[in-house]
Amino acid sequence: MRFITVKNYEEMSKKAAIIIAAEVLKKEDCVLGLATGSTPVGTYSRLAEMCDAGEIDFSKTRSVNLDEYVGLDVENDQSYRKFMNVNFFNKINIDINNTNVPNGCAEDLNKECERYDALIESMGGVDIQLLGIGVDGHIGFNEPDSEFVMGTHHVTLDESTIQANARFFDSENDVPRSALTMGMKAIMNAKQILMIANGKGKKDILMKALYGPVTPEVPASILQLHPNVTVIYSEE
Ligand code: F6R
Repeated sequence: MRFITVKNYEEMSKKAAIIIAAEVLKKEDCVLGLATGSTPVGTYSRLAEMCDAGEIDFSKTRSVNLDEYVGLDVENDQSYRKFMNVNFFNKINIDINNTNVPNGCAEDLNKECERYDALIESMGGVDIQLLGIGVDGHIGFNEPDSEFVMGTHHVTLDESTIQANARFFDSENDVPRSALTMGMKAIMNAKQILMIANGKGKKDILMKALYGPVTPEVPASILQLHPNVTVIYSEE
């Protein structure tokens, strides 16, 4: 594992963007595993700038997102599909048909989970997976549990996740109580993992995940078993 400490959010975003851009340059039809939340916004902006400047071309790139709230569709400003369109996909030359987010409004959520896993497999798996980390150690929405869940699944969100994400909604009551998330199999099968984290509030959980025991109670600790992980952390 490579652990890179940087001085601020800008530097974290720039370095993360360079690592992702290198992957796109090496393999134009690579599969990007993407995350939402406040941490990757700067990374997406830097990548969009590189695309604007003609430095990278996303026209053949494919993507799969980690997760989506159950019950929120693309029209909803808080859905992760909308987040990705606004913060990234609409700013780069990716073919929107090559971008994938689980459908949190599917009639049969279990079938949707199976479809998503089959899709990732048919794409040959993820080349580089971008991850943030939740205050409870979640990656995607793999919440602390008694076991690591392998496949894409329907998950009840932890109280701490609901509270942390309430900042994006009018009130805590509006935060969906469940989500669909990619499971550990697709994440761990990614050829490369890039985790970004910023702020003092993430430091304890990050250290616990990366240097503590590997346990499903700290879902991100599974990354210790992956052979190609880069973590970029900014305390500011
Ligand atoms: C979202 C996701 C989550 C976030 C995590 C941190 O797609 O995968 O695991 O990365 O909740 O969120 P922020 O970046 O908002 O602190």
